[in-house]
Amino acid sequence: MSVPVTGRASAHAGKSIWHAAWLPPAAFRELGSRPVLVHGEGLLVDTVLDEVSRACARYGGRVWHGPPWQVDADLVLALREAGRVPNVAAESARLGATPAVNGAGDGALGDEGYLLARVDGVTVVLADAPAGLLYGMFHVVRLGAAAFDDELPARRHRPALDRRILDHWDNVDIHPVSGQIERGYAGGSLFWRDGAARHDHARLRDYGRLLAACGVNAITVNNVNVHDTEARLLTDRLGDVAETAQVLRPYGVRVHLSVSFAAPVVLGGLPTADPLDDRVRAWWAAATRRVYQRIPDFGGYLVKADSEGRPGPFAYGRDHADGANLLAEALAPHGGVVRWRAFVYDHRQDWRDRSTDRARAAHDHFAPLDGRFDDNVILQVKFGPIDFQPREPVSPVLAAMPATRLAVELQATQEYTGQQRHVCYLGPWWSEVLRFRPRGEAGGTIADVAAGRAGAGGGLVAVANVGDDPFWTAHPLAQANLYAFGRLAWDPLLVPGAILDEWIDLTWLPVATGDPETVRRTMHAIMDDSWRTYERYTAPLGVGFMVRPGHHYGPDVDGYEYTPWGTYHFADRDGVGVDRTRATGTGFTGQYPPPWSEVYESRERCPDELLLFFHHVPYRHVLHSGRTVIQHIYDTHFAGVEEVAAMRERWRLVAGAVDPAVHDRVAERLDEQFRSAVEWRDQINTYFFRKSGVPDAHGRRIH
Ligand code: GCU
Repeated sequence: MSVPVTGRASAHAGKSIWHAAWLPPAAFRELGSRPVLVHGEGLLVDTVLDEVSRACARYGGRVWHGPPWQVDADLVLALREAGRVPNVAAESARLGATPAVNGAGDGALGDEGYLLARVDGVTVVLADAPAGLLYGMFHVVRLGAAAFDDELPARRHRPALDRRILDHWDNVDIHPVSGQIERGYAGGSLFWRDGAARHDHARLRDYGRLLAACGVNAITVNNVNVHDTEARLLTDRLGDVAETAQVLRPYGVRVHLSVSFAAPVVLGGLPTADPLDDRVRAWWAAATRRVYQRIPDFGGYLVKADSEGRPGPFAYGRDHADGANLLAEALAPHGGVVRWRAFVYDHRQDWRDRSTDRARAAHDHFAPLDGRFDDNVILQVKFGPIDFQPREPVSPVLAAMPATRLAVELQATQEYTGQQRHVCYLGPWWSEVLRFRPRGEAGGTIADVAAGRAGAGGGLVAVANVGDDPFWTAHPLAQANLYAFGRLAWDPLLVPGAILDEWIDLTWLPVATGDPETVRRTMHAIMDDSWRTYERYTAPLGVGFMVRPGHHYGPDVDGYEYTPWGTYHFADRDGVGVDRTRATGTGFTGQYPPPWSEVYESRERCPDELLLFFHHVPYRHVLHSGRTVIQHIYDTHFAGVEEVAAMRERWRLVAGAVDPAVHDRVAERLDEQFRSAVEWRDQINTYFFRKSGVPDAHGRRIH
């Protein structure tokens, strides 16, 4: 029986193993069983060569790389700039795709793009830069046998977004509250352990490979909450960052660093971190110069400032543009960017004060600053106005700052979506966000905002969900979120179900020990709608939170109701929801351009799934679905639990068709998901039954 493990030993522990996720060796079977020509030079070309060589050694193929003799290959991977390709079909494809020759002007492949074709029985990947060749090779792996079937017309592939970044909220020290990884649900960090770097190069390299195969091209190696030890990654611990950069570089993954705005004080011994102080500017310039001396392709800084207690420019009477531009100035000579987070709000709010609205905060702070940021500042905006909930409207900031480069921040780590104990495939949710048109049908999408002009916008970012767990993401099915993030960042128009198919093809089918089609069907049946299932049994109709304060797992309807955090539902005996209208509420709806400013303002027009985000309504308010709010709450909570029960059953049926270790892990998680979903259902239904006194129309058991 084959098992999906690399069996590779960790350099550190000597005996730990980890699963291969979406690239078990068998995923390379088609490529590895053929004659392959690799043409060109460069660090990432060497990576391609290494991948192809390992696959061919395993599956009986053959590899050429070297002087230009004439090669009969099934697959040619060539850099166009390397000149004449020693293969007739590939050379004619190269000439055909050269604008000077074909006059079609379709030549630009960019730094990461490639051209894929199958001509005269040869599959050809052409790129202008080594990264393109690497991405092209992974495309061939994704296609499997189909890459070698019929003729394929030449097609150019380029990422829609240049920046496709995972932010790791990893701490170097084990933090007394947030642990080794803040909001991490997959074990320890890949980079740090107990105050020091792990130096686990084999695992890091495998991680880089997984990232490249789904299109991610940068990571941030430490938490946005930069504590004392982590601040020093910028200075005396920079060597550890450089080491990580070196391991990931062959897979085209650049490294970024979260920095503390107070660094000139805490590291530099200056009396101030005032962004307009010349000593502070000089300190950042010198520190940044040293970073680039060690890491020439360093990506840039990520900053959480004046947010949840972090230091920032407000202490000096300066604003966020002053703060961000300070770091931008230091990074500009080296080509780096500063990503400045827009997650700024009052976390010491008085719950009695109905005029303060956390949803308004990012727009209130940042929209007036549009046009004041330097070119290499990227404002990184959480996709929704509150905090990574399973349902929120899209942040109005994303429609309000046309003169600023904006990045959209998602959360792959499942802080509010089941903490990698629940199956929650986020592809459909992210896709909905990316396709949303904040100015209505005639305007662009959120993906367009992230892409900016010609892909050079702020890009797409996700908080990472991996750790040192053998399955990378603890819940093996949560790997799909990491994969989907990369693929959507490459092409936001990809269909989530199709992404899932790719992931299943690359991860499960090469190592299936039973009928592959049954495995595929089961995965789809469990995962396709799992985000909506999660939504059904948790907080209703977009109202959000209702989670246990602190760790955010499991239900606690009033857990945040009388706290300073600004996340309230305002349920009383008559109704529930937050009035964010201009007419009678906080006025948040006015932060949207039309048509959404009108749609959200209107109780009648507001989409059901966001009703309680925007309106406080009576329990007997009738939704577009025809049901009352209270009946909707009961129905969805009963349905959600039934769906989880069905997932469990389905999973039982594929025991024997997948690796037993993976099967056990998923089964154990599904048991917990079922238990937790029942708890959610019972607490939410009971709470609203007691508040409203309205019985369930179907007479089901409510406590
Ligand atoms: C959430 C999360 C925090 C995190 C913060 C952020 O509030 O619970 O752990 O630090 O987001 O995005 O900065």
